This record gives sequence, structure tokens and C-alpha cells, in this order.
Amino acid sequence: MKRWNVAAVRAAKGVRRLGCCTAYDSCFARLADEAGVPIILVGDSQGMNCLGYETTLPVNMSDTLAAVAAVARGVKDALVVGDMPFGSYQCGDDEAVRNAVAVIKAGADAVKLEGGASVCGLIRRLVTAGIPVLAHVGMMPQSVNEYGGFRKQGKTREAAERVIADAKAVEEAGAFAVTLECIPSDLAAEITAALKIVTVGIGAGPHCDAQWLVMHDLLGLNEQVPSFVKKYSSLAGEVRGAFAAYVEEVASGAFPPPADGDGAK
Ligand code: KIV
Repeated sequence: MKRWNVAAVRAAKGVRRLGCCTAYDSCFARLADEAGVPIILVGDSQGMNCLGYETTLPVNMSDTLAAVAAVARGVKDALVVGDMPFGSYQCGDDEAVRNAVAVIKAGADAVKLEGGASVCGLIRRLVTAGIPVLAHVGMMPQSVNEYGGFRKQGKTREAAERVIADAKAVEEAGAFAVTLECIPSDLAAEITAALKIVTVGIGAGPHCDAQWLVMHDLLGLNEQVPSFVKKYSSLAGEVRGAFAAYVEEVASGAFPPPADGDGAK
């Protein structure tokens, strides 16, 4: 049985802070899982980190299903959350439920979707259908065109009240946790204290119950990262160096060696 499930995440509130991250393929998901990451999000940030897009908006259901299936095959203990891509839940709740079911059938344990009060009807339907929902309020990257860029939200008291109302609404609708993205840290603290469910912050300061980092940022595969990110490694340089050394050694004749073994791993 998996070690992390929705009940375990709920029980972690106030007991243990959870360091969670994204992954988009089996190899990195397995490494994150072996390292003890409790929740792995197959984020629509795969659009920027794997697919070469500028935003999350072009990511579609087939991108999501392929990535969720790959991550689920790599994971033993972590809770796998599949991010609902833009367009998969905006065109009516029946289609949204069908798409969420597909994400679960691909191997996710739960789905994540962006929105507050406006998606509460859908959250209720999903939870009733047995699909756990991790909500997402504050800065919602799928609304980038409405914001005119990826901008911090909840900065005025009026805007903060809207984020608080959204967070309370998704909790009331049955979400088991809520992402708080790019909001002031005192607002994240206020929401975390007001809710019974786990808050997962990203760019929202230290007071949340859990944190997300995008895998490519935390590993330093992305060299340009948002100011709130801590890089725990500098893999971009190491990976580039390894490719360059390989190219150089093939050119020089240093690789492969004269005797090449039997091919077994
Ligand atoms: O897709 C993503 O990376 C996210 C973040 C909040 C982690 O939604």
C-alpha cells in the first residue's frame, strides 16, 4: 500500500511540514519518491519545463495523461497529483469530470485545478465521484492573460479578502488541500491559520503547511528561476559538462574504449 494518501496529507496539518515538488517523467519521479517527497505534482508547468512553451496554456490532455502515467509508473510511496490542463475543465462540468476521471485512470491519486468560488460546484462533483481535489488559489498561471503577466496576487486588502474567500470556499467544497501561489506571506499565514486543510505554498512565504517547488528549479536544471526559489543543486552546468565531455571524447577517440564488455547493465 502507498504510504502517502489523502488522509495522511490531511493528518499532517500542524504536525509535519511537507516539501513537495513537481515531476514529469518516470526517472525523476522515482528519484523524488525514493528521497521521500510526499506529494508529486504532474504540473501543467511541464509546458515550460519540458515542452518549450512560454506558459502553461498550450498543455493539453494528451500531454497530461502521458506524463501522469509515466510519473505513476516511477512512484511507490508519494501521492501523485495530476494537474488539470487549461481547457480541460472550463467547458462544462460533465466534460471536466470525464477529463478528471481520465487523469485518475492514467495513475494519479488526485487532481489539481485552479480557481476559487467559481470552481466549487465542480470540486463538489469530483469529490462526490471519489476524485480527491487539491485546489489552487492566489496567482493562477492559467489566468496569465487576464493578469497581463505572472504577477503576485492579494496585495491590497480587498484583493487579499478575495483570496481568503476563495480558499475558504474550496475547503468548504471538499478540497483536501489548497495551493497558495505567489501571495504575500502574511496573507498565506492568515489563510493557513483559518483553514483546516493543508495549504501548499509556492512563492507564498514560510507559514504554509507545505511547499511546492518546480523540479527543474530546485535541481538547478533551470538557470533562471523566480526569486523565491532555492536551488538545491546546479544540474544544468553538470549536465551540459557531461554532454560536452562525451562529444569531446568521441571526437578524440577516448570513448569508446577498445574492448566494450558484453553490453549488460
Ligand atoms: O504546475 C505547477 O508547477 C504548479 C505549481 C503550483 C507547483 O501548479
